[in-house]
Amino acid sequence: ASTLAEGAAQHNRYFGVAIAANRLNDSVYTNIANREFNSVTAENEMKIDATEPQQGRFDFTQADRIYNWARQNGKQVRGHTLAWHSQQPQWMQNLSGQALRQAMINHIQGVMSYYRGKIPIWDVVNEAFEDGNSGRRRDSNLQRTGNDWIEVAFRTARQADPSAKLCYNDYNIENWNAAKTQAVYNMVRDFKSRGVPIDCVGFQSHFNSGNPYNPNFRTTLQQFAALGVDVEVTELDIENAPAQTYASVIRDCLAVDRCTGITVWGVRDSDSWRSYQNPLLFDNNGNKKQAYYAVLDAL
Ligand code: XIL
Repeated sequence: ASTLAEGAAQHNRYFGVAIAANRLNDSVYTNIANREFNSVTAENEMKIDATEPQQGRFDFTQADRIYNWARQNGKQVRGHTLAWHSQQPQWMQNLSGQALRQAMINHIQGVMSYYRGKIPIWDVVNEAFEDGNSGRRRDSNLQRTGNDWIEVAFRTARQADPSAKLCYNDYNIENWNAAKTQAVYNMVRDFKSRGVPIDCVGFQSHFNSGNPYNPNFRTTLQQFAALGVDVEVTELDIENAPAQTYASVIRDCLAVDRCTGITVWGVRDSDSWRSYQNPLLFDNNGNKKQAYYAVLDAL
């Protein structure tokens, strides 16, 4: 294969990238993105603050810039994200209780109906669990509306677009031995046993010294897949981009039938939310890094 998308396609997987609307006029950026990837996640443009800046007034201007660029270039779009404690517009941060619960439901309905039949995969709920050893839900305004907020979000999403695959997405859940991983696993098992509509789990895979890659990631992917959900690597970046670690992540996904694709969280190091870590596959000039060749080789 000569590109990441081609390599992944040989294994029936996609290879995706996070795209920022404000970089779409940079031709070095768009040339790489268009050549190498066949799936696109909006880095920020489909988040709650972007799509519903005022309550009940949806704005898809920035989201559509990403969506249209992706579709015009033949790429699939991953929807990210509908219910999250972070990047909430001020009006939502100010809500609580039943009013917030209803606002969450309205938001999911509003965004998913707008893109009904167009966005095949959605991160419905993002980052709902606490870090560390508690294994508890993260405290947030959404969590304080009642423990059932996550399943309500998924049931709402299923109704809003029955054709979309519905994912739970989180970070630091790659290590099988982590309490947070076990907590998410138990939630997914519970959802599957009670018929809550969940189709996939996204492992963000932001690896760094605080959350180092562990080879048991493959076990994690296998264990979740065995619950009857697809698994995806949704926001991959690795501090300093060690080539061997990148290759290991690719091989872990390819080893698990239900691992349907991999997305890296940005194009060049300079595009990264953690640019100081140089964590991506292309350097600031858009040149392929060692990690790029290791990934292509692993595909
Ligand atoms: C990050 C973006 O990359 C930044 O541009 C933004 O300032 C903050 O959010 N987990 C997620 C992503 O699910 O949406 C986050 O993206 C990174 C962590």
